[in-house]
Amino acid sequence: MFKLIENRPLVPNLHMLRVEAPEVARSVQPGQFVIVRVEEDGERIPLSVADWDSEQGTITLIYMTIGATTHRLSRLPAGDGLPTVAGPLGNAMEIDHFGSVVCVGGCYGIGSIYPIARALREIGNTVTIIIEARSSYLLYWQEKLKQVSDRLIVITRDGSGGLKGHIDNLPAIIERLPQRPQRVIANGCNFLMMRASEQTRPLAIPTIVSLNTLMIDGTGMCGVCRVTVDDTVKFACVDGPHFDGHKVDWAELNKRRQAYLREETIPLRSSAGTAEQ
Ligand code: FES
Repeated sequence: MFKLIENRPLVPNLHMLRVEAPEVARSVQPGQFVIVRVEEDGERIPLSVADWDSEQGTITLIYMTIGATTHRLSRLPAGDGLPTVAGPLGNAMEIDHFGSVVCVGGCYGIGSIYPIARALREIGNTVTIIIEARSSYLLYWQEKLKQVSDRLIVITRDGSGGLKGHIDNLPAIIERLPQRPQRVIANGCNFLMMRASEQTRPLAIPTIVSLNTLMIDGTGMCGVCRVTVDDTVKFACVDGPHFDGHKVDWAELNKRRQAYLREETIPLRSSAGTAEQ
């Protein structure tokens, strides 16, 4: 069993889990993920690794409580264990000397963009982080993100923190930066990554997204994570999860992502019904 060190809400609907997984902590690289199971034979959930401590042998994951499994996970106390934490899986994010990079994060992507920004800045890139949320109470890790960036820009849709608006403001923000970015990297829900890619396409700025797909084995065997990129079928788990956002077939991805939404929430609705009786 993989022992839970910490498992607590960060903001509404988002939890932070720190779990002992020494093998993963020793070898994980920015942009990789793990597959977690809450119980033997339970659903497998892919989660990006948002931070790690190789000496303590722990990894940090940010997850959204969206379906029955993640709600079950959110109720586990520290000291409890998970039967599966498999990884690190997927390819690492390309970390190179790009010059100026804009890292965009929303929702759980605010967490998963952190190690990517850190690695890019460590080798000398100028890093601007932009985080986006509906309201300021949904933001987290701002101090942590400031430490790994040259500037942190906050966007809230209701204007309660930072700039008022949404990720569609990206071209205006980029225009005001001292240096034009050579690359944009976006992490978060598919909608955010799709919108960010739409904004950077006319600017011809290469944009890398970390796709959020359903997964079962995470090793290229089941085909569940199939996506179309540049008219070619790819498996997000082994070919990705990072792809050129300008070449992703977003309509197909969103359709596939929602295929099991109803089934995921049925157990929640039935337990709510039972509790009310
Ligand atoms: Fe099975 Fe990718 S999760 S092929």
